[in-house]
Parts: sequence; C-alpha cells; structure tokens
Amino acid sequence: MTVLVTGASGNASGAVVQALAASGIAGRALVRKEIALPGGIEAVYGDLNRPESFVDALSGVSGIFLLSGYDRVEELLDNAVRAGVRKVVLLSSSSLDSADTSNAIAAYHHAAEEAVTASGLEWTFLRPNSFMSNTLRWLDQLRAGDVVRVQFPDVPISTIHPLDIADVAVCSFAEDHAGTIHRLTGPVALTPPEQVDILAQAIGRPLTSYPMTRAETHDDLQASMPPQYAAAIESFFADALIDETTVNNTVEEVTGHPPRTLQTWTRENAALFGEVRSGGRA
Ligand SMILES: NC(=O)c1ccc[n+]([C@@H]2O[C@H](COP(=O)([O-])OP(=O)(O)OC[C@H]3O[C@@H](n4cnc5c(N)ncnc54)[C@H](OP(=O)(O)O)[C@@H]3O)[C@@H](O)[C@H]2O)c1
Repeated sequence: MTVLVTGASGNASGAVVQALAASGIAGRALVRKEIALPGGIEAVYGDLNRPESFVDALSGVSGIFLLSGYDRVEELLDNAVRAGVRKVVLLSSSSLDSADTSNAIAAYHHAAEEAVTASGLEWTFLRPNSFMSNTLRWLDQLRAGDVVRVQFPDVPISTIHPLDIADVAVCSFAEDHAGTIHRLTGPVALTPPEQVDILAQAIGRPLTSYPMTRAETHDDLQASMPPQYAAAIESFFADALIDETTVNNTVEEVTGHPPRTLQTWTRENAALFGEVRSGGRA
C-alpha cells in the first residue's frame, strides 16, 4: 500500500506522514517546498489547486489523505480514479455536525465531502475538533510578553493532538473503514485560559490570559483572515454553531489508545516556543 499525503508540511498531514512511517506503510508527501521526511516517505511536488501538477505522483498510489477546501477537487479525484487509487481519507471538520452550509468553513468541507462521495472511491471522513497545534498561533504574542489574549475565553474545547488524527487516518487506510465518518475529540474540554496555564507549565513561563471581549475577538478575526472565514469562526464559538466541548471515545475505539493530552502536546513542542523569551527578548 502507498498513501499520498496532501499538505504534508502542515500540522495534521505532517503527523500523518510520521504515523505512516511508524507503521511501515509507504508514503508520498505532496509538498510545495523541501521538508525533512522520515524514512519510507518520498517527496512529490504539486499544488492542490492545480491537479495537473501532480498526476504522475498518483501512479502506484492506493490511498490519498486529502485536505478540504481546494479548487478543482473533482479533477483531482478523476485523476485518482484513472490512476487506480482505491481509497480517500478526507480531513473534514466538526463544523459538519451542523448542516449549516451558509457558514463558509462548513461549506468548503461539505463540498469536499460531496465530491469525494461522488467520485466512487472508497472514503472515510475525519471530522476533528480544533487541533492542539493551534496553540502555535499564540507564538507572536509570546514574543511580546507573558500575556496571551484569548478569543472565546469561556468556551471549553476538547482540542485534539494531530498525531491522534493521524493514527485514526492510518487505521482507516490499513483496515476497512469504508463509508465511515469519524468524529474526533481530544480527552478533555479546556477553556483557553486553562490551555494557556498548561502551556505556561510546559515552557516554564509565568503566562497569564487576557480574556478578549466578543467585540475584540470580532476585530481580531477580521484583521487576520478573509471576512467570510472570520465570520464562520465567530459563529462556531460565539453563536455555538458547533460543539467542540463534548468528549467522545472515537480515538480510543479506533486506535486502541486514549487520546493524547494537551500536556503531552505542549511538552513535545516546548522547543518551538524555546526561542521566544519572556519580556519580548528574542
Ligand atoms: N486547525 C484546526 O483546528 C482544524 C480543525 C478541523 C479541520 N481542519 C482542517 O485541517 C486542515 C489542515 O490544518 P493544519 O493546521 O494542519 O494546517 P497547516 O499546518 O496550515 O497545513 C496546511 C498544509 O496545506 C498545504 N497547502 C496549502 N495550500 C496548498 C496548495 N495550494 N497546494 C498544496 N499544498 C497546500 C500547506 O503547504 P505549505 O507549507 O507549502 O504552505 C500545508 O502543508 C485545515 O486546512 C482545515 O481544513 C483544521
């Protein structure tokens, strides 16, 4: 079996690359730049928005770990069928718990699920909660000092370790999970200030949280991404369009191990925060 991993330089797909290598499954990492890869995984170059850029990379591939939200996914899937690919594991999202496709993020995940279903390929959809690796979005603030301004401070989220998503993906390739939707959560729901406390412990800094108001959160989101995605995220958490608080057993049921904790993720990734020192000294 050979699996093509799209988005391989990213948080979730990078974890899939690691998990494939650990399980001895051959992998191809679709990338746009050179990255370090584990043994057994080869790099192939391509742009997800241009399916013609990686037709040759599909030769001999039996499964694709696919990200949602790219143009011309139907063409990509047609190419996959022609190349003899059998299975797609799609990284979708918890936003599809609600059928509200007027939400821009839910809409692109829904479109990807529909395209994969229509392709005739065997499919498994992963609908995870927010990733623990989103903690990296606080890096800029940590360069400036020990206060972390947190959005939606009162909303507890059971964030998930990317390696748990990856382990479920590998099981989905290695076993028969055809036609299955895996709704994936982390082990415990934590408010953003609780998440900051866990990060502080792991990196040995006296971090404190500043709970942003809804208006501040709105402005922050609008300043950092296209307006339709900012509105989508605001509606997820401020209007409770999604529930990322409830914890389920799917990771353990599928993989046989409990979901990893945020304490584990922050310890494993403490070095990424290592260059960022208290008080803005780089
Ligand atoms: N973050 C969350 O909490 C969350 C929750 C649920 C679902 N998701 C879904 O999971 C996806 C991955 O999240 P992540 O945190 O792992 O993202 P990430 O770290 O930003 O990774 C995105 C990856 O996609 C690649 N990419 C972007 N545009 C591309 C293109 N045109 N062609 C080929 N590759 C391209 C990037 O490559 P470069 O390095 O070359 O830019 C990168 O490897 C999200 O996009 C979202 O759909 C995320």
